[in-house]
Parts: sequence; structure tokens; C-alpha cells
Amino acid sequence: MGATRRTLLTSPGAAAACGLVGAHDSPAAAGSGEPAADPVAPVVDPIALGPATDIPVGGGKVYSTAMAVVTQPVAGDFKAFTSTCTHWGCQVTEVENDQIICRCHGSRFSANGSVVLGPATLPLGPKAVTVKDGQITLG
Ligand code: FES
Repeated sequence: MGATRRTLLTSPGAAAACGLVGAHDSPAAAGSGEPAADPVAPVVDPIALGPATDIPVGGGKVYSTAMAVVTQPVAGDFKAFTSTCTHWGCQVTEVENDQIICRCHGSRFSANGSVVLGPATLPLGPKAVTVKDGQITLG
């Protein structure tokens, strides 16, 4: 006779076969006291973007290879966002007249990342940014 539904649902082999055993079931998480590394969280190294003088007050600059846009809404206050548009996921390509522009369908975002013009309805996702010794670092 084959396995019953109960034996399939309760046997460890069945759980592994079904992909139900995750990172938190790993030996590190199961009793060593050491936290297991989260295999889902991306490791993001800081990325040097260049001089802060590249970012005009009230405007910004798109760093396409870093998939980020950095703005300076007011003097000395730098912000960074993902360059992925919240509408359908195109990359914003430029900052023009102090607005971050997605050319796919015309969405525009302010230097604070908020939507100025749809069809996007959600702000750009924030990213960590620091400015030290006049140099911008993402992450
Ligand atoms: Fe940006 Fe549609 S993906 S406006």
C-alpha cells in the first residue's frame, strides 16, 4: 500500500522533496546558536558614485549601472532611490527640470521620489546614500 496523506505530510523526506525545508531548517539555525545566513537577502557592497557636485540642488542624476538615482532636494540633503519605475519596472533615465523621468509611459517623480505625474502611483524605493569628503557612496 502507498503512503497515506498523513505520512507524506509528516515525513522529513517528503518535506524536503516538496521544497518545504528552508534556510531556517539548516543545521546552523537548528541549534548552533549562530544565526544562519539569509540566502534570499542580497549582499550589497557600497558603490562609489563620484563627486557630490554632480548633483544639482533640487535635481539629481541617474546612475544606470548602479540602478539608482541620486537627488539633492535641498542643499546638502542627498537622497537615493532605485531607478526602477514603480509603474511597470522600466528604468528611469534622466532628471530634467528637477523631475526624475521614466520614458516608458511618462511617469515623473520629484527629487524626494514622490510621484509628480502618473501612471505610476507609488514613490521610487529609497536606497541608502552617504556623502563623505565630497564623494557619494551608495549602500
Ligand atoms: Fe515607468 Fe510605466 S514603467 S511609466
